[in-house]
Amino acid sequence: MDKQLSTGIKNLDSILNGGIPEGHCVLVAGSCGTGKTILSQQFLFEGAKLGENGVYFSLTEPREKMIKNMRDFSFFDENLIESGKIKIVDVTQDARLKGVGLSNVQGLINIITDVIESSGAKRIVIDSITALCENLEHEDKIRDFIFELNFQLMYLGCTNILISEIPPQEFKYSIYGVEEFIADGVILLTEFERKGDLIRALQVIKMRGLSHSRNKHVLKILEDGVTLVPLFKADME
Ligand SMILES: Nc1ncnc2c1ncn2[C@@H]1O[C@H](COP(=O)(O)OP(=O)(O)OP(=O)(O)O)[C@@H](O)[C@H]1O
Ligand SMILES: [Mg+2]
Repeated sequence: MDKQLSTGIKNLDSILNGGIPEGHCVLVAGSCGTGKTILSQQFLFEGAKLGENGVYFSLTEPREKMIKNMRDFSFFDENLIESGKIKIVDVTQDARLKGVGLSNVQGLINIITDVIESSGAKRIVIDSITALCENLEHEDKIRDFIFELNFQLMYLGCTNILISEIPPQEFKYSIYGVEEFIADGVILLTEFERKGDLIRALQVIKMRGLSHSRNKHVLKILEDGVTLVPLFKADME
């Protein structure tokens, strides 16, 4: 078995029998507020604490707002951002500054690969692949972009989380329908109603090269970030 990367999320490493295999591209799919961003931030902070640099490509939240929202979590460490071990990059703003149009496939790929190469990052998050593809218009172009991005990330040897935004209560993993086939792994975040409360849940749908649990787990967001509890053990009273 190749090296597996600890995710920093309580119980996720045991669900995955050790963590995310190095070099994998994992799609984290979920509707709004299901915990995609917090889970992915924890993955980067865990890596940085272990000496692996990380880059968070954000398209949905501006950099400063994202940092402000993370501050209260115990996994957050400002030093890791100040020292450059974790970089938060606003892709839209970077593209604008460099005069790259958001429908320019090669331009976007170049921006992403330049940042990764110059920071020596080993862990990458793209939040979200859905927003990144939004301006590409045609399905063919979106497909080409996702293939090329995946190829570049693989070539750079990073372990990647691509966030996929999906509508609530719908049984699909992505908007464009190709992301889940290209990805080596799919982690699905959902929610269900229980006594008038919305409970968050996580399920690992696939993880190539691994034998893993496909049990649904209740996902709680606490002061130390995301925590997972097997559904049958969760206290939902
Ligand atoms: N300090 C905190 N303690 C507990 N829960 C929190 C805390 N901060 C945020 N949350 C919960 O986390 C949710 C946001 O999680 P997150 O940003 O990871 O979701 P997301 O799936 O990325 O959403 P979106 O699709 O809108 O980007 C909030 O709606 C809130 O319910
Ligand atoms: Mg988010």
